[in-house]
Amino acid sequence: MWFQSAFREIYMSAFRYARRAEVLGDSVYDHAPGAIVLSSGLAYPPHLPDVVREAMEAARDHGTQTLQYGPLMGLEELRDEIVRFVAQDGVSCDRENVLVTYGAKSALDLACRIFVEPGDRIIVAAPTYMTALQIMRAHEAAFLDISQDEEGLDADELETQLERLRKNGERMPKLMFDVPDFHNPTGITMSENRRRRLVAMAEHYGFIILEDDPYRRLRFEGEAIPPLKSFDENGHVIALGTVSKILAPGLRVGWAIGAKEIVDRMAMQKADGGTNPFSQHIVADLMRSNKMSKHIDDLSAEMRLHRNAMVEGFAEFLPDAKVRKPQGGYFLWAELPEGTNAEAVAARAVELGVEVSDGRLCFPNETSRNHLRLAYSFVDAKTIRKGVRLLGQAYDELKAQA
Ligand SMILES: Cc1ncc(COP(=O)(O)O)c(C=O)c1O
Repeated sequence: MWFQSAFREIYMSAFRYARRAEVLGDSVYDHAPGAIVLSSGLAYPPHLPDVVREAMEAARDHGTQTLQYGPLMGLEELRDEIVRFVAQDGVSCDRENVLVTYGAKSALDLACRIFVEPGDRIIVAAPTYMTALQIMRAHEAAFLDISQDEEGLDADELETQLERLRKNGERMPKLMFDVPDFHNPTGITMSENRRRRLVAMAEHYGFIILEDDPYRRLRFEGEAIPPLKSFDENGHVIALGTVSKILAPGLRVGWAIGAKEIVDRMAMQKADGGTNPFSQHIVADLMRSNKMSKHIDDLSAEMRLHRNAMVEGFAEFLPDAKVRKPQGGYFLWAELPEGTNAEAVAARAVELGVEVSDGRLCFPNETSRNHLRLAYSFVDAKTIRKGVRLLGQAYDELKAQA
């Protein structure tokens, strides 16, 4: 199993690590030098925003604020910009509902800190975002994993599971984590009906939905669907946002929007000196001017080309795989024929010069062995095509040996 080597490394070490350090051995972030990276959702380097003017002003004109520790809740001017930004999606909130964080992942971590006791169940889709699983595991959460259909997380299955837990007198989940738009990894976008139903279920069963929505604005076609947060009347949804995908991940600016009592508690768990005010200032400026929205339009057009190159590459070089064409976002989920060992395909692909992620990392409990997750964000369309060709070669070689 993928975690066994990590487990071995830890128990053979002279140091007495915590059990949660078990997952660190097989880092998916160590890229082989020179490899075509289709494994993680890195920003496309030629499209990183130009922030020279904003950074200079932040240092020159606002140094006493930007080079100081930041307020726990974030800079007021940025929180106000975030209020305006999410209002475009039908989310109505005030500054007091917005907590600025070091990206969406940090917001998720803070939410876990205030809600999760060891052994508490979190509702997640299977598969789901691998790093979110890592964060939730660090809080010793257990998972209630629910499958997805083309409309998103299966609400009927969830209801059946929740009724079963209730009937058995078991601990009910406090949280649900999901990615409704251009899901990582499956690319599925949740329908409006499903969103409304899940918000109603959150109220009925008393859990909080963590709506992680970093890709929402990177839509290539089709109509946008309102966020779950826009249907939330009683504070059962915390919207997690970030500029990592719409500006630059290195800025490390994200947010959580929720009931004031919740975000205040999350803020009190921050032990980071306040999110970097220098970055916050830059982001507030980019949001205020039309630079960010222009950047999003340009980036979406580029990502559409990348998506097309990857989908076409699969049709040409790996037709045995089932793939869904995502309408936006960064990721493609590939299902190889039953019985294929995706880990072996990914390992051979690395030898040939392309990195993809083994789908097992995305499963909370039972894993599937025949899925791969690919990101089309980081390299250009031509390189994506080459990468998929090499992946197809890896698959063909292993198929011939089987
Ligand atoms: C589902 C999901 N959430 C959040 C993030 C980004 O998190 P952060 O804002 O911490 O960079 C990613 C990046 O890959 C993601 O895929």
